Amino acid sequence: MADLAPQLRRSAHADFQADGVLAAARTLRRNPRQAAAEVVDDLPEDGLVATAVVAGPGFVNIELTDRALLAQLARRLGDDRLGVGTPEAGVTTVIDYSQPNIAKEMHVGHLRSTVIGDALVRVLEHLGGTVVRRNHIGDWGTQFGMLIQYQAEHPEPVPGDTGTMGRLATLYRLARAQFDTDSAFADRARRRVVALQAGEPNTVAAWRDIVAESTRYFTEVYDRLGVRLTDADTVGESAYNAALPAVADELERRKVAVTSDGALCVFFDDLRGPDGEPTPLIVRKRDGGFGYAATDLAALRQRVVELHADRLLYVVDARQARHFRMVFDTARRAGWLPPTVPAVHVAFGTVLGPDGRPFKTRAGDTVRLVDLLTEAVDRAREVVAAKNPGLTGAALDERAWQVGIGAVKYADLTTNRTRDYVYDPERMLALAGNTGVYLQYAHARVRSILARADGDITVDLTAPLEPAERALILDLDAFADTLVEVVAGYEPHRLCGYLYRLAQTFTTFYEHCPVLRATGPRRGNRLALCRLTGETLRTGLHLLGIPTPDHL
Ligand code: ARG
Repeated sequence: MADLAPQLRRSAHADFQADGVLAAARTLRRNPRQAAAEVVDDLPEDGLVATAVVAGPGFVNIELTDRALLAQLARRLGDDRLGVGTPEAGVTTVIDYSQPNIAKEMHVGHLRSTVIGDALVRVLEHLGGTVVRRNHIGDWGTQFGMLIQYQAEHPEPVPGDTGTMGRLATLYRLARAQFDTDSAFADRARRRVVALQAGEPNTVAAWRDIVAESTRYFTEVYDRLGVRLTDADTVGESAYNAALPAVADELERRKVAVTSDGALCVFFDDLRGPDGEPTPLIVRKRDGGFGYAATDLAALRQRVVELHADRLLYVVDARQARHFRMVFDTARRAGWLPPTVPAVHVAFGTVLGPDGRPFKTRAGDTVRLVDLLTEAVDRAREVVAAKNPGLTGAALDERAWQVGIGAVKYADLTTNRTRDYVYDPERMLALAGNTGVYLQYAHARVRSILARADGDITVDLTAPLEPAERALILDLDAFADTLVEVVAGYEPHRLCGYLYRLAQTFTTFYEHCPVLRATGPRRGNRLALCRLTGETLRTGLHLLGIPTPDHL
């Protein structure tokens, strides 16, 4: 019967258009325009619908009464949830995001994962859901052999030591260089890997120190970004080591994985390389070692079995699509992922530099996330200072941070996540256009109107409405549905688009309808519209992780 739903949508020709009669008429073998006319005749006289007319092949165009719209405004105003329900209540989502790698710089890919993941966490929690965050950091692998070995052979401070991550990144570079050129060192580094895997105490202690040093750095970046990741959310790849042999055994026992060329592999009918040979997921390598895939399988099993996930999300670069397809497929075949539990690769595109190529420094290195954030905040400071010459010192710094971080996050969230986008600090800090600053400014403007208003904000249901007021009430009403859409496709850009349209609708309203100069019942209604717009912008921006200063 889903076809027979009214399918009400906003329309350019009326407040709403109902398209459902078309499908219903087809099912009933009726003339659609006639059926639509009957629907219109049967509409109850409840004061909600002002006019309903048949249009086109059998649509119904509906205009609501001013009174009905004002009643909705009054309801929303008295509801601190702004009409948002809790459809996620009772649903546990385990979300894997951020996932930087130990002893390496965080780059723009990790920024995307962190920012998109954080927004999804906020929206899911706001809709009443239980969310378990998993920062699946890369804290295991053969690179630790060379890092620890190099450090043991060179106890002196690394040259050009520039704080936590600078030190580790340099150490990484030096160790890698020697590993690639000095085969005796490479052998010693490999023996270190064996020592680490065997739990040799000194080696494990050195590994722990390196992980702790990196993690402190990541936490600093998260604080700067204002995202909700904490140490408790960090469960790195190494956490699953103990579970790996059992994962392999179970896959083998259930005949999901087979030995091929000495390695334990899972094959897929439709996944083949360019040579036509099947591309397997390698669970255990020929040398008996486990890798990235085995770890993800162990993590997945634990998330379903022990964390009781109803839904699994992985906010990871689109280039890992095949990996996740294989992992999810394998888990389904192994029975670890029941049909009722969706596993979704929330994929995102690449951040591009001004030249349209993946974002790198001029020397071809990854751009350090901290440098990028510092630059955005510095530029934001200029924008803020130009608008507020009186603002100085700590207050200016705070405002610059709010605007700079907001700009970076909004620029990332506003494009459809699967698309690549060009990182352009100038454009993301423009006061006009679809930017975080524009929305922060729209919010601050509403706050300042309200600060100047005295008297009660009460809705008068009998006052007539201007078209711009009607449009604003209808836009405000769509907030709850927008959040449901964000979750339906794991698409924060839908919330960005909504808030941007809302800010524009508000601007049109404010141009056509004087607020502070209005008198009589209209004044209260317009102030109510300002307040509800302010609260909706604020709540929406917070769900994106974007601060909302009262002044800009
Ligand atoms: N650390 C990986 C990287 O930087 C991403 C990990 C993604 N998460 C996962 N469960 N595989 O590319």
